[in-house]
Amino acid sequence: MKSGNTIHVEVHFTPTSAGEESLTGKNVIVIDVLRSASSILVALTNGAREIIPVGDMESAYKVFSKLTREVTLRCGERNGKMIEGFDLGNSPLSYTEEKVKGKSIVMLTTNGTAAIVKARYANNLVVASFLNLTSVVNLIKSWQSDVTIVCSGQDNRFSLEDTICAGKIVAELTKDNDAFSLDDGARAAVTLDKSFGGNILKMMKHSDHGKALVEIGFEEDLKFCSNIDSFNGVPVLANGVVRLNNEQQTPVLKRAS
Ligand code: MLT
Repeated sequence: MKSGNTIHVEVHFTPTSAGEESLTGKNVIVIDVLRSASSILVALTNGAREIIPVGDMESAYKVFSKLTREVTLRCGERNGKMIEGFDLGNSPLSYTEEKVKGKSIVMLTTNGTAAIVKARYANNLVVASFLNLTSVVNLIKSWQSDVTIVCSGQDNRFSLEDTICAGKIVAELTKDNDAFSLDDGARAAVTLDKSFGGNILKMMKHSDHGKALVEIGFEEDLKFCSNIDSFNGVPVLANGVVRLNNEQQTPVLKRAS
């Protein structure tokens, strides 16, 4: 809630604590460092037309049935691995220009796209990771308005990497700026960033999700996702699809007849 000229920043460590209604009409930042937010940014930067996030398999198949197969990619993971019958998994390194250019990507991931779908009635919904941290911070600053940061977490549990990313966003927002008031979550995220955020790759290698990804062969993804500010784009959700915020694309989806 805005009081006077104070801009309020709150951080939810998991999507569970943020009810769908409580996110409606808010400015929401959804973080999923490992790996949906990173993959979404890479896919859009490499020329994907749009990302259509879905929260479960049933919704994915509903969307598939409405889209022309040739211009659509079915992407996502379960337990970190590509879903059987899909075109791509959730490794940002797999979203190459060759694979994604001009495609509408229907994306289903365990935590990240589910969190985006939960926050779909937000006023502004932005997808954030370490890769685009400063661009996200600049966009938030331009709003001059309260902001709710939702960490996707892992199976509705706390995740260190998403929280550290939230802490870095809050720290940047509040640096030399007393216009912001923070809830306990935001203050705790900043403190955790001070303790664990000095070496992002090391922190991710020791995190639960990072260790699980290394175990199934995705260590390179950790390195890639730790590259702070290696991209400028900011994925934003509007009308159910995610695109880069500076993009002015007009046609939407080529529907199957
Ligand atoms: C998710 O949305 O749960 C993650 O992005 C999982 C993953 O690392 O593939």
